[in-house]
Parts: sequence; structure tokens; C-alpha cells
Amino acid sequence: MLKAVILIGGPQKGTRFRPLSLDTPKPLFPIAGVPLIQHHIKACTKLKNCKEILIIGSYTTNVMSQFISDMQKEFHVILRYLQEFSPLGTGGSLYHFRDQIRAGSPSAFFLLNGDVCADFPLEELWKFHAEKQNALVTIMGTEATRQQSVHYGCMVCEPSTKAVNHYVEKPNSYVSTLINCGVYVCSLQVFHTMAETFVKKQNGFYSSNGHGVDPGYMSWEQDVLTPLAGTGKLYAMQVTSWWSQVKTAGSAIYANRHYLELQSSPPATTKCQILPDVFIHPSASVDSTAVIGPNVSIGAGVIIKGGVRIKESIVLNNAIINEHALVMHSVVGQDASVGEWSRVEGTPTDPDPNKPFAKMDNMPLFSTEGRLNPSITILGAGVVVPAEKILLNSIVLPHKHLGRSFKHEIIL
Ligand code: GDD
Ligand code: GTP
Repeated sequence: MLKAVILIGGPQKGTRFRPLSLDTPKPLFPIAGVPLIQHHIKACTKLKNCKEILIIGSYTTNVMSQFISDMQKEFHVILRYLQEFSPLGTGGSLYHFRDQIRAGSPSAFFLLNGDVCADFPLEELWKFHAEKQNALVTIMGTEATRQQSVHYGCMVCEPSTKAVNHYVEKPNSYVSTLINCGVYVCSLQVFHTMAETFVKKQNGFYSSNGHGVDPGYMSWEQDVLTPLAGTGKLYAMQVTSWWSQVKTAGSAIYANRHYLELQSSPPATTKCQILPDVFIHPSASVDSTAVIGPNVSIGAGVIIKGGVRIKESIVLNNAIINEHALVMHSVVGQDASVGEWSRVEGTPTDPDPNKPFAKMDNMPLFSTEGRLNPSITILGAGVVVPAEKILLNSIVLPHKHLGRSFKHEIIL
């Protein structure tokens, strides 16, 4: 039997995803029509032997309960949400819930960061791990550019065995272009190693003033993976398939494109002209003269009127796009409305297509000179864009009623 653990953090995380994460927790943000971590759950349920999925985070249970019961209905698997009382870090949260993970003695468990997206090759990863005799952890790795690699966990491997000899989390200078994808398979014995680290950290905690961190805080990467490197118990399986982090709103559009491509099922509606790939929720109402796609997801209850053009965008539940409006490289929040003949446009932030292995840049909102970095346009929930306005590379916080056009601004 196998299990899976998905780490989703809590409301303090996902700051770069604002304002989209102000009303929907980032792990539940819809990508290709379903919450981000539903893609993880689906990948886990494809494995016959995966009997339980544990989602660990510090969001309150009432934020997660609807999603958990929806998932239990959709996938016939035991699924539970375990809430941390305070953020314990990637390692601390895992260690805190070790008894739940070990219950039923699974042969191993998958560990997935909730903020990555990929065509998760879990079967392959499990096979690779099972073949390595002493492996405690196998990391799914991928190639990055030399310049971008330092924003990830970097690994140096023994070429013949794929044992990780050296692991550095977000190094200050170049270490390796083989990076950690935040997807792992772990043997239960890893908890013995974690127990030793935990005791050492606790001793350190009580001999200092604690530095304001929870005594249970542990970083999976720094406190577990780094010391495991070079012991013959840590391995990396390199993949070449699509993988990305979801950190910024721009990366949601990028992830949307790839998940739509993987699903490759055309929307049930052919009410309007569709340029694939597109997801349209069955309850959305779309005028026959609208043109939608490529890379568009339309949520439940959305109304799209005549002559509308939408591409490279996500339109969330119950939004209204009025006659002849254009939406491009943007996210339109829940219940927002775009007036007739208005233009809502952002700048794509995709990885550089000319650089092999380039990843999303995940730029902060502002440059070091204090300027807004060009990115997708975001309309927060309930925003109203009146008729005949232009909104370019802007971020509008929820519930604003705009009175004029805006370019390169954050509307607070
Ligand atoms: N439950 C819980 N508690 N989850 C947490 C906590 C916590 O205290 N802290 C972080 N997480 C979750 C986040 O929500 C995210 O899904 C995942 O753990 C990774 O956390 P980050 O701290 O945001 O790390 P990162 O994304 O910058 O880097 C990690 O992922 C990269 C790949 O995406 C590292 O593992 C890197 O080495 C790796 O390259
Ligand atoms: P991710 O996209 O999930 O990586 O979120 P992020 O980039 O916003 O997280 P990052 O770790 O870069 O932290 C962003 C801000 O949140 C920083 O100001 C951190 O100090 C703060 N922060 C991160 N983790 C915690 C936490 O556990 N508790 C509190 N109070 N603040 C945190």
C-alpha cells in the first residue's frame, strides 16, 4: 500500500499570488477548471495502490472542508485534511503528522508540494525508488538554466547510480542545473532520520532563546535533504516532461495552458468559436458570436456576451464579460464584470522559449526601482470595469469600481 502527502502551507504563504489568494486559498485556485491541488490528487488516484491522501496545511478546516468532501465524492480514496496549529515548515509539518502517515504501514509515501504543477510521473518515481536498496528519499529532478537554478533546491548526482552527493537549497551561487521539483517518494524509515534531527533541533532551541520560531519547525530541504546527501540514501530521478511552480498569478496562466493540453478533452459546448485548448464550465453561458482560446478557462456561471474575444486568460465563477469586450493575458475574478467594448490586457510572463530548460521567472510585483513589473492583468473579485475602458498590465484589488482607463498601475 502507498500513501501521498500534499503540503499546502497556509494563509501566510502565497503572497506573490495576491490578490488572487485574497479570497481563494492558492491551493484551491482553479487551473484548467479544477483547484490546483486536484491535479495532484488525480495523479495519486491513478496509482492503484495509493490508499490515502493526506493534505497538510495551516488553513482552517472550514476553508478546506467543502473541497475535501467534493474530492471524496469524486475520487474513491481516503482523503483527509490535517491542520497545523502554526506553520511548522515543510519538514516540521510532515514530522508532526508522522503517526497518521505511518498508520497502516504503507511501503512508502509520495510527498508533493502543493504549489507545483506537472504531468506527475508517480508510477515511474515509485519504481525507481523501489529499485534502490537503501533509498530513504527519491527526488524528482529536472534541468534548469544555470542562472535560474539558484532559486530552487540544487543537487549534484553520482552519474551511474543517481545517488545525490550534494544538496543545497537555493544556493547563493551556482551549484548544479539539476533542480528539485518538490515531488518525492519516501520510505517510512525517513522518520528515524527526522527524529534525530528533531531532537538535535530541540536541544538547540532550548539552549537559545528560540528566535521566535516554533520549536517544532523543521525544513525538509535544509534539515533533512542536505544531511541525507552523500549517505547513499538520497536519490534523484531526472524527468524531461513539463513541470513548473505556481508562485505568481502569471504562472497560473502558464499552468492552465499545460493542464488543458494534458486533459485534451474539448469543452462540451460548441456554442461559439473555440481555438483549443479551452475549458468552459457547463453552467457558463457563452454567446455564439464570441471567440474563445487558446488557453482559456471559463468558470461556473460566467456570462459571455456577443462579439467577446478572450485568449490566454482565466475567467472565474459568475463573472460577466459584456458585448465586444476583449480579455487577453488576464485573470478576471469571481463576480467581476467587464463593460462592453472594454479591453483588459496583460503581458505574458512565460518562460523564455529560446532558452532550453528555462522556467517561469516568478518576478515580484515591483522592480528594484519601485516600478510595477509587466505581468498579466488581474481583476480582483467583484471588480467593475465600465464600458469602453482600457486596462493594461494592471492589478485591481477586489470590489473596485473603475471610473477610467489604467495602465501599469495597482488599483488599491
Ligand atoms: N503544511 C505546510 N506547512 N506546508 C508548507 C509549509 C508549512 O509550514 N511551508 C511551506 N509549505 C508548502 C508550501 O505551500 C509549498 O507547497 C511547499 O511546501 C514548498 O514550500 P516553499 O517554502 O514555498 O518552498 P519553495 O517552493 O520556495 O521551494 C521548494 O520547492 C521547489 C520546487 O518547487 C523547495 O523544495 C525547492 O528545493 C524546490 O526546488
Ligand atoms: P510562496 O509563493 O508559497 O513561496 O509564498 P511566498 O513567496 O509569498 O512565501 P515566502 O516564503 O517568500 O514568504 C512571503 C512572506 O511571508 C515573507 O514576508 C515571509 O516573511 C512571510 N512568511 C513566510 N512564511 C511565514 C510563516 O510561517 N509565518 C509568518 N507569519 N510569515 C511567513
